[in-house]
Amino acid sequence: QTSRKTVKDIAKAKNSTPLVMLTAYDAPMAEVMDPHVDMILVGDSLGMVVHGLPSTVGVTMEMMILHGQAVMRGSEQAFVVVDMPFGSYETSEDQAFLNAARIMKETGCQAVKIESGAYAARQIAHLVERGIPVMGHIGLRPQAVNVDGGFRAKGRTDSERDIVLEEARATAEAGAFAIVVEGVAEDLAAEITKQVSCPTIGIGASASCDGQVLVAQDMLGLFDWAPKFVRHYADLRTDMDKAFAQYAADVRSREFPGKTETYSLRKPAPKQP
Ligand code: KIV
Ligand code: NA
Repeated sequence: QTSRKTVKDIAKAKNSTPLVMLTAYDAPMAEVMDPHVDMILVGDSLGMVVHGLPSTVGVTMEMMILHGQAVMRGSEQAFVVVDMPFGSYETSEDQAFLNAARIMKETGCQAVKIESGAYAARQIAHLVERGIPVMGHIGLRPQAVNVDGGFRAKGRTDSERDIVLEEARATAEAGAFAIVVEGVAEDLAAEITKQVSCPTIGIGASASCDGQVLVAQDMLGLFDWAPKFVRHYADLRTDMDKAFAQYAADVRSREFPGKTETYSLRKPAPKQP
């Protein structure tokens, strides 16, 4: 039994070797990536990636807990962070604590993540003071898609830039141990990374951050579309399409199953005299 990375390991990576983070939603995916990553994120992107929802707004506490449990079973050394879903923390400090504590207890994960508009500083401080490490998430905040009118990069105008910088400062000062910075231009990501004392984890936020995160299925090429910031490290969609087509052809031609994939009758053991 190896022990998992801790918040201390994450914190000391500031201005050091970049932190490696990927999302996982199930046990086998977590198992394969575990030896290679510092952190695994059970992201609420599972709503879109696994459940086919149009955004992350429909994701529930139950979904996050179920997938969080699976990822914890499949991993052993990574620091596991579970997203708090839309509607589970915004109302009050009490609401945030009750739901975060439930996620921590029922999954055994190491931390939660909150999409931290500047208003969320109260919730972050409240959780951290009570023993729950919090990762922030600023810039493009997918749970705000209905206010933003779509998913688009943030901080590309002066006024928006000030808003994102304020989100970063408020999140860090409230005690977040790390901050995901999503969908911002390189100079802003660099400025945020310089200004906050905790590591920044970029997604579509340039190499100037202290680490990187991607959705695993995006970088594995499972979808026929991916945002500009995704690099494809595999072509899973093509591989799966080929495999399914070959299986269908083999079944229809009775090529599958063959002899080696078939059980035969066991010969009875000879009778003892
Ligand atoms: O839900 C998610 O996958 C995320 C990452 C994209 C940072 O929040
Ligand atoms: Na998320």
